[in-house]
Amino acid sequence: MSTPEPESGTPWWRDAVCYEVYPRSFADGNGDGVGDLPGVTARLDHLGRLGVDAVWITPFYPSPLADGGYDIADHTAVAPDLGTEADFDAFVARAHDLGLRVLIDLVPNHTSDAHPWFREALASAPGSAARSRYLFRPGRGANGELPPNDWQSAFGGPAWTRVPAPGGGPGEWYLHLHAPEQPDLDWRHPEVVADFERILRHWLDRGVDGFRVDVAHTLFKAPGLPDAGPGQHQDILRNHLMPYYDQEELHPLFRTWRRLLDTHPAPPGAVPPGQRVMVAEAAVFDPARLARYVSPGEMQQAFNFAFLECPWDGTEMRGVVERSVASMRAVGAPVTWVASSHDAIRPVTRYGGGALGLRRARAAALLMLALPGAAYLYQGEELGLPQAHVPDDRLRDPLWERSGHRERGRDGCRVPLPWEGTAAPYGFSTATADDCWFPQPGDWADLTVEAQEDDPASMLALYRSALRLRHAAPAPADAAPVTEGPADGSWLAFDRGPGLRCLTNFGPDPVPLAAGDEILLASTPLEGRAVPADTTVWLRRSS
Ligand code: GLC
Repeated sequence: MSTPEPESGTPWWRDAVCYEVYPRSFADGNGDGVGDLPGVTARLDHLGRLGVDAVWITPFYPSPLADGGYDIADHTAVAPDLGTEADFDAFVARAHDLGLRVLIDLVPNHTSDAHPWFREALASAPGSAARSRYLFRPGRGANGELPPNDWQSAFGGPAWTRVPAPGGGPGEWYLHLHAPEQPDLDWRHPEVVADFERILRHWLDRGVDGFRVDVAHTLFKAPGLPDAGPGQHQDILRNHLMPYYDQEELHPLFRTWRRLLDTHPAPPGAVPPGQRVMVAEAAVFDPARLARYVSPGEMQQAFNFAFLECPWDGTEMRGVVERSVASMRAVGAPVTWVASSHDAIRPVTRYGGGALGLRRARAAALLMLALPGAAYLYQGEELGLPQAHVPDDRLRDPLWERSGHRERGRDGCRVPLPWEGTAAPYGFSTATADDCWFPQPGDWADLTVEAQEDDPASMLALYRSALRLRHAAPAPADAAPVTEGPADGSWLAFDRGPGLRCLTNFGPDPVPLAAGDEILLASTPLEGRAVPADTTVWLRRSS
């Protein structure tokens, strides 16, 4: 079956900028200290004024919150602390009124251990139909006391947990590639396949325009669940060789989903079938392997984590840009650039922290937003937030406990956004700072939306200008930027299209501009006609 494309022009998602909302930390509408859907809806005009094209909202489903909501107990309902189904509809309607497309998370690899299927599985005997929707196996060792294989959880420790036998005493083990509260589904089970088609239809009927597919590379496990072998996880670039990643059966499944998205009727306000999008969160680092997720008839986008992982180094960044563009171009897909997410250290901190980190984060933002392709922006990047320190006793990320308190995890990028005022909770909530679900730093008064609103030198002003200019200078549909720069990587330049050239100075020495180049935007004030260190400039070339 061929995939219908929109009737004319470039599909919207090829060049779209999508803003990621982490709802419990965006804005609190009911004053209980936790962000919620009415809070998001009330503040959605912030995204309109920013100039993004789409919003992706991370899981808002009922969840015991063992992993920030990625442990889902009911995939077609709304968590009571976040609102009601009517609140979700109001969010979608407001987004569509603002011209924003709406993406939501599809989390197919696992459920919560509170999901009715898993509860039924625990109450049923080994070998029962209820257990066969998950991956239960007998243990190894004389008494089944060892896990069935050597697989490790992404959050540390074995990927297996033993459950009691229904009649008492130790029983089988079940697989969880993440936290024990996130049992993996068996994607070879027809009821699992059918249920996720039901889930897709449910949300399409409620007006969503696409899905971000969580850990899309892990759904199928190699038959027989073989050991991964010693040293697993050590070579991240070859992680597609792991027996629980990147299995062949993923691709027919994604083609089925794509056909569903392309044919299921759309309610008013949503994009028509054929324009809906799926974006793969697939931590596959071999660019050619990743490209398979976005080959014709499968997903349209796959997060490019190579940009996020790249250190602030011109040679390495040039390699990332060139390899990413070449591999996606080979399958006709755009590169989907990602600089941050709810799982990553915020760029200001990643690039060195303080004034230097902020300066580089500004330069990186302009670099990413000039590149042809789609881009994802995580809430708070437009404010230049650093990673926040969350005290030990307030940490919630399962990584903290599972790593034996060696890894603090991802909570530092998940603290509530600062909107206004001079003290926590900075307009996030009408609750007191102490009653908010994460504490905010005391020194964020200068980082609020209000403080940055009218300051032309602010990060917010930079993002707004960049998004306006980016829209005015769309990249050609099949753009493949030719990168230019010296062999030492001290600077990197490329043309986004005829109207916009981007130059980033990674080195210590100023880079002089050509006499006729018109400066459209600079991440740091220029020194006369030279681009200073750690700065990106957007130019229109003299012809
Ligand atoms: C994805 C999510 C992450 C979550 C994991 C397990 O990587 O982005 O937050 O912990 O999947 O669902």
